[in-house]
Amino acid sequence: MIDRATVDRILDATRIEEVIGDFVSLKRRGANYLGLCPFHQDKNPSLSVSSTKQIFKCFACGKAGTAVSFIMEHEKLSYPEALKYLAKKYGIEVVEKEQTPEEIAARMKGESLLIVNEYAQKYYQQLLWDAGRTHLVGLSYFKERKFTDDTIRKFGLGFAPAGGKSFAATAKEEGYKEEYLVDSGLVIKRDDGSLSDRFYDRVMFPIHSLSGRVIAFGGRILTSDKSKAKYINSPETEVYVKNRSLYGIYFAKTAIANKDCCLLVEGYTDVISMHQAGIENVVASSGTSLTVGQISLIKRFTDKIIVIYDGDAAGIKASIRGIDMILQQGMKVEVVLLPPEDDPDSFAKAHDREEIEEFIATNKCDFITFKTNLLLKEIDNDPIRKAQLINDIIESVSVIPDQIERNVYVGMVAKRFDIKEDAVFQKVRQLRARHNSLEQSRSRMDRQQDAPVPPDGYEPVPAGYDENVADVETVASSPQPLTDSYLAVNEKEIIYYLLKFGEYPLRTDDSLLYDKKAVPAGVPTVAEYIRKSLEEDDLQFENPVFKKIFDEYFTRPHEPGEDCEVAQGKIIRFFSTHPDQNVAATMMDVICDNYPLTVKVYRDSLTPEEQLLGKNVPRVVTAYRIKVIERLCAATVKEVDAAFKRGDGEACKEKMRLLSALNTVKNNLLHLQASKK
Ligand code: CTP
Ligand code: MN
Repeated sequence: MIDRATVDRILDATRIEEVIGDFVSLKRRGANYLGLCPFHQDKNPSLSVSSTKQIFKCFACGKAGTAVSFIMEHEKLSYPEALKYLAKKYGIEVVEKEQTPEEIAARMKGESLLIVNEYAQKYYQQLLWDAGRTHLVGLSYFKERKFTDDTIRKFGLGFAPAGGKSFAATAKEEGYKEEYLVDSGLVIKRDDGSLSDRFYDRVMFPIHSLSGRVIAFGGRILTSDKSKAKYINSPETEVYVKNRSLYGIYFAKTAIANKDCCLLVEGYTDVISMHQAGIENVVASSGTSLTVGQISLIKRFTDKIIVIYDGDAAGIKASIRGIDMILQQGMKVEVVLLPPEDDPDSFAKAHDREEIEEFIATNKCDFITFKTNLLLKEIDNDPIRKAQLINDIIESVSVIPDQIERNVYVGMVAKRFDIKEDAVFQKVRQLRARHNSLEQSRSRMDRQQDAPVPPDGYEPVPAGYDENVADVETVASSPQPLTDSYLAVNEKEIIYYLLKFGEYPLRTDDSLLYDKKAVPAGVPTVAEYIRKSLEEDDLQFENPVFKKIFDEYFTRPHEPGEDCEVAQGKIIRFFSTHPDQNVAATMMDVICDNYPLTVKVYRDSLTPEEQLLGKNVPRVVTAYRIKVIERLCAATVKEVDAAFKRGDGEACKEKMRLLSALNTVKNNLLHLQASKK
C-alpha cells in the first residue's frame, strides 16, 4: 500500500498539463490548455485542461477529472497503478506502507507465485515452438485449429510435453523453490516426496490478470479422448481467484472501453478465435456461470454486456443464470444465440469481422425477448406454466436497480403478454419489497457475525495479491448506492455547489463583473452562505455521505485568503483522494458532471455557471428548506388527525396552530423562490 504522505508527495509534484501533455498536444489558452480529446473522435480541440484547478474537462464528450483519473482512464490502470505511474514520471520513490509480518508474507508469497507462473509460461511457450524436439504436436494442434503464429504468440500459448516430470525438475534446477512450485499448483508433491507436473501432454493457455501477469493456466488434451478431462486448470491460489478472473480481460480491456460493450463467451478458444477475426472486446467466463466478481471486473470498462453462447441447451441454460446476475449489478445485457451447430470459436473462424459484427447486431435481443422465446417453447399453452413464466420474467425485471430502466421493461412485459401495466408494476413492487427486507435481514446478520468491518483503507489493495485481485477489490468496495431518501436530491444539489464552487464569492447583485481572483470583502463565499442558511434552521443532512462531506468541508485544514479557483482546486483534491470511497466517488461525480439533477436545468444557459451562483445557490438552498418544511407539514397533519381521533381537543388545536405557522413559513419560502426566477 502507498502511504498517505507518499500519495500527497505524488499529487504535489503532479502537473496535470504535463501528464496529459504526454498523450495530447496541448496549446496554451490563458490559464488553460486546449487539445484534442483522446476519449472520443475529436475534430476540434474540445479538451480543456485547467492548471489552476488541476482538472481536465472535454466540452464535447463530457469526460472530466483529475490527473489521476486521466491516467486511470487513458491507460486503463487502477487507482494505485495510476499513482505509481505518476510517481515514476516525477521520480518519487514509492514508500510502501508499513505492513504487518502477515501482510508482508502474503505479498511475497503472491509475488513468488506470479514469478513461478511467468517462468512456467515461458517454459511451455518455448517447448511449443521448439521444433527440434518431439514437441511439434503442440504447435500442429494449434495450427490445425487455424490459429496463426501471431495469435499463438499474442496469447502466450504453450505446450506441456508428456512424461509429467520435466517442468518440476527443470524449475527446481533453475532454483525455483519447491514450496512455491507446489503452491502455484503447477507441481504436485506425492506422498513419497517426489514431484510431478500437473500439466502434461496438453496444450497450455496462460490466464492473465487485468494487468497482464500470468496467474494460472488451462491445459487442453490434444485428442478427443472422452475418458480424460478436456481441460485441466490451475487450482485457486493467492493470485488466482477464479470468480474474480476472466479469461482474456487483459487483451480485451481497451477494446471493451472503446466500444463501450463487452462480449461474453464461454471458453478459451472462443476468445482467441474472436480476436483473430478482429473482434477484441471479448472475454470468457471459462465454462462456469458468471459471478458477481467477474461482472465487477467488466463494469470497470463498460455497463453493457452481450452474452454469446453456444446454441446448445447447456449454453442456453448457462446464459439464463448469468443474465439475472448481470441485471442485478445494474448492467445492460443482451443475448445472442448462435446457430445450433456453432460456438463462437467455429463461428468466428467461418466468418470475417464484418459478418460477425453484423450477425451480433441483427441477432442480439434483450433478455425479456430472449427468455420469453426460450421458455415459451417449453410451455405448449399450459396456462399454469405460462403464469410461472410471466412470474419468472417479472422476477428478472424486479432486480434491475435503475427505476427508469425497470419501467421500460415493465411496459415490455405488459405488452408481450397482454397484461395491464399496473398489474406488472404491482408485482415488481412486491418482489422488490421482498428483496429489500431479505437484504436488510441478511446484512443485519452479516454485521452480527463478522468481526469489525475494517475502516475504508486509503488504498484498498489487499496485501500480497496480484493486481487483478486488487482491482476487483477496488470495485467491490467502491461506492454503494446512496439511499434514495426524501431529501437526497436536494442535499446532493447543495453538495454539488459546495464541492464545485464553495470558495467562490456569492454575488447577489447579478454582477457580470465576475472577478475570480479574491473574494471581495463583505461578500460571502458560496460555502459560507450555505452553512449559514442551514445553521439558521438547525438543519443537518440525512444522507451519511453528504453529511460527512458537509462536515469535513468546514473542518478541513485550509488557509483563507486564497484565489478562489486555487482554493477550489485544493478542495477537489482533498475530496477526490478521500480515504472514504463513497466520498471520493461523489467528488468524481461532481467534477465529471454526472449530476442528473434539477441544477442541470438551471445550468442550461450559456452564461458560465460561476456567474449564476448568486441566483442558483439560494435557489437550491431554498428548495431544500421547502422540502423539509413540507415533510414537517405532512407529519403535523397526521398528528392533527390522530389527536382528532383520540378526541384530544387541546392537542388538536395546538397542532393546528403549528401547522398554520409551518404553512406560513412554507409560503414565504415559495414566494422567495418564485421571485428568483
Ligand atoms: N472448461 C473447463 N474444464 C472442462 C471443460 C471446460 O475448465 N473440463 C472450461 C474451459 O475454460 C473451456 C470452457 O469451459 O474453454 C468451455 O468449454 P468447452 O466449450 O467444452 O471448450 P472449448 O473452449 O470450446 O474448447 P474446444 O473448442 O477446444 O473444445
Ligand atoms: Mn469449442
